[in-house]
Amino acid sequence: MKKIIIGSDHGGFELKKEVIAHLEKRGIEVTDVGTYSTESCNYPDYARALCKRIQSGEFERGILVCGTGIGISIAANKHNGIRAACCSDTFSARMTRMHNDANVLCFGGRVVGAGLACDMVDLFVDTEFEGGRHTDRVNMLAEIEKEN
Ligand code: RB5
Repeated sequence: MKKIIIGSDHGGFELKKEVIAHLEKRGIEVTDVGTYSTESCNYPDYARALCKRIQSGEFERGILVCGTGIGISIAANKHNGIRAACCSDTFSARMTRMHNDANVLCFGGRVVGAGLACDMVDLFVDTEFEGGRHTDRVNMLAEIEKEN
């Protein structure tokens, strides 16, 4: 993966900075949709800004960070075609790529440390979707979107 998009609210801002530095060290170009300070802001705005650019095809995958990772993942999952996974362990970060073809990884700046966050990011970036029986299930997610 050559490029990735990232966003956060104030609760995820500090951790996001560490994740960006980690990704850039790996040679991955990072686009940051904000927020750019610890001033209080609203996580749905950043989920929306990031998801639109995945929906458009400009980016394949993204990372969202808020205080818990929960609010921003709920917001992201309101977007058609977005499969956002809120993770706080490496097993889930790997499996959500293999089984769910997750295109957005979320975590909480008040939940996980930088070491764990960067390990999860590496797995999210490096792990491919397994396909096979999981393809039908992922397609079923799109059907649910159509129904609603
Ligand atoms: C902000 O205080 C906090 O509510 C937000 O970062 C996130 O944790 C919401 O789910």
